[in-house]
Amino acid sequence: MIPVFEPTLTAEAHSYVSECMSTNWISSQGDFITKFETKLSKLHEDRHCAVTSSCTTALHLALLACDIGPGDEVICPDLTFIAPVNMISLTGAKPVLCDVETDTFCMSVDTIRPKITNRTKAIVVVHAFGHLANMPEILELGKKYNLRVIEDVAEAPGGMIDNKIAGTFGDISCFSFFANKIFTSGEGGACLSSDDKIIESIKILRDHGMSMEKRYYHPVIGFNYRMTNLQAAIGLSQVEQFHEIIHRRKSIEDLYIKFFKDNDKIKYRHYADWCKGVFWLATVTIPEMSDRKHIISKLMDKGIECRQMVFPVHEAPPYHKLANDSLKNSIFISHKSLHLPSSSNLNKEQIQFITDSVVTAIDEQC
Ligand SMILES: Cc1ncc(COP(=O)(O)O)c(C=O)c1O
Repeated sequence: MIPVFEPTLTAEAHSYVSECMSTNWISSQGDFITKFETKLSKLHEDRHCAVTSSCTTALHLALLACDIGPGDEVICPDLTFIAPVNMISLTGAKPVLCDVETDTFCMSVDTIRPKITNRTKAIVVVHAFGHLANMPEILELGKKYNLRVIEDVAEAPGGMIDNKIAGTFGDISCFSFFANKIFTSGEGGACLSSDDKIIESIKILRDHGMSMEKRYYHPVIGFNYRMTNLQAAIGLSQVEQFHEIIHRRKSIEDLYIKFFKDNDKIKYRHYADWCKGVFWLATVTIPEMSDRKHIISKLMDKGIECRQMVFPVHEAPPYHKLANDSLKNSIFISHKSLHLPSSSNLNKEQIQFITDSVVTAIDEQC
């Protein structure tokens, strides 16, 4: 079976984890946490960094650090993994869903602007499936309406607009290091910000609201959202190869693009010319009349594991009430797209086999 995604762990990962084990620094204190934070910071314009237990918890902390709570509205895309919407809800604020663009799969100023009301306090911008949302335009809109902007970089670390890297645009940016992400620590996340006060407050909140100067003194209510030294050890081994991993992954995506190039039925995910995207999951959109379930099952029979795209958020029962008339692109893209195997260790023959099999499965239907 060719899996949809598997991490590639290096010898350094093994040696760093062994070091944690042999020194007993296996919990949420230890050198690897500081080293991982420092490395992430260096890769992102020296923004201050706090690692967390996941991107989900990073998003929760980012929203709290922006003082989001009951009575506020926060705009986010309908086409996203559900974590940002769940975290907005957890603060007591109301998530407001906007549509995405068909070419980028991301929210844009045109889809965000109609959703702004006098209760809107923030936008959670999700960089979707390796493509960045148009941050310069969104930041300008945010400034005009005095909105906080949180970037969810889970699916596009390393992506760029005008040589500025994802995660350096918003007030706070949140990263995921889950095992199917471009860089992994097993489970894990991070918040980055140019504002040291924000990151300090996030470090307090992630650690039970405990003062950093006076141990066991808790000036605010907090959580245990910490990352362990073991996770940071794996994470460090990955981001030490940040540019190599992105480069290797790009060469895989180039093959997908090449092999699908002459097929007019299958639309491989497109990158706008203003965005230097990053390869996360190979994503194709199939013709309207084809049956995605059938295609996934045909590929499975050949030992190729594929994944349907996430459902639009408003199709989840807790969020049915957030459905609105403007979510057409989100619905179409979500229902007609699938992700193909995307691990960093795929070779050319495997990619040729996968693309040929997708073409055959679709040709059989239409
Ligand atoms: C856009 C986005 N945000 C947040 C998350 C949640 O990340 P984590 O599993 O690290 O909490 C994901 C996970 O897939 C995601 O795709």
